[in-house]
Amino acid sequence: MKILITGGRGKIARAVHAGLVAAGRDVRVASREPADLPGAIALNPAHPVSLANALDGISQVFLYSDPSTAELFVEAAENAGVKQVVLLSSLSSQADNEHAAGDPHAATERVIAGGDYATTRLQPGTFMSNAIYWSYQVRATGQIRIPYLDAEEAPIHEQDIADVALEVLLDGPSGNHNGLAYPLTGPESMTRRHQIELITEHTGVPIEAVDLTPDQALEEMSAVMRNPAQLASLMAYWASRVGSPHPVEPSVELVTGHSGRTFTTWLHDNPTVYTS
Ligand SMILES: NC(=O)c1ccc[n+]([C@@H]2O[C@H](COP(=O)([O-])OP(=O)(O)OC[C@H]3O[C@@H](n4cnc5c(N)ncnc54)[C@H](OP(=O)(O)O)[C@@H]3O)[C@@H](O)[C@H]2O)c1
Repeated sequence: MKILITGGRGKIARAVHAGLVAAGRDVRVASREPADLPGAIALNPAHPVSLANALDGISQVFLYSDPSTAELFVEAAENAGVKQVVLLSSLSSQADNEHAAGDPHAATERVIAGGDYATTRLQPGTFMSNAIYWSYQVRATGQIRIPYLDAEEAPIHEQDIADVALEVLLDGPSGNHNGLAYPLTGPESMTRRHQIELITEHTGVPIEAVDLTPDQALEEMSAVMRNPAQLASLMAYWASRVGSPHPVEPSVELVTGHSGRTFTTWLHDNPTVYTS
């Protein structure tokens, strides 16, 4: 059974690819920018012919979430005879705040889960790798400028998300994961402020943490996060987590058999993010 990995340049896609190759599986990697990725094919998910080409001969798919192209994907996957789709969604799809109805991941989940194939939805919370985006601010200004420094998160290592995806794909369409959604977090709740303290402790790089007001954050972050509904949902989520430890989900351990990697492990695994 051949497996298609979309979003090829993404951190999780790369880890899923490496794991499937190590397991001896037949894999096709697709990207919107294949020139950046040796061996990858081009995929424009908004283009039916491009989708049909990418899905030709494919039985299983690791899919990055995109509400604008989800219906086209379902049609193309059914036409191609795809048997299993593992969707990289988000914990935000479960949000019960006033912005949840507009959450793009919830919208994608509804469409993708309606297809005629086995589906498993991975719902990770905050990625530890967001610290890479913070590092760009540190290089430029010595600061990390984010809202809700005292909001609690349980950030997850991208390899743990990939490990769950690998288990599900290797189990196959008739395995135990069909129809399930896995909320995924890291193993410990901590404030965003404490994550910054750990970065300095681990790297020795001094960082000024700047607690943006919601208005400042909307102005500064809308330049990098172009989806206003997603940004509004995130802001409401952070506001709700101030002074409220984040639940630690058991799914990584239940599905993979190993405990989730800590933020200190992530910093150890990514030694040059703040120091090169
Ligand atoms: N960052 C977080 O804290 C967090 C938390 C929960 C969920 N998520 C979700 O996880 C996903 C990856 O997040 P990230 O920010 O960490 O990025 P990332 O791992 O750097 O991945 C970005 C990749 O997404 C792929 N992509 C983007 N739009 C796509 C589309 N329409 N169709 C197929 N692939 C597409 C691109 O692949 P190509 O250009 O190679 O095609 C790109 O390389 C996003 O859906 C995000 O909403 C993120």
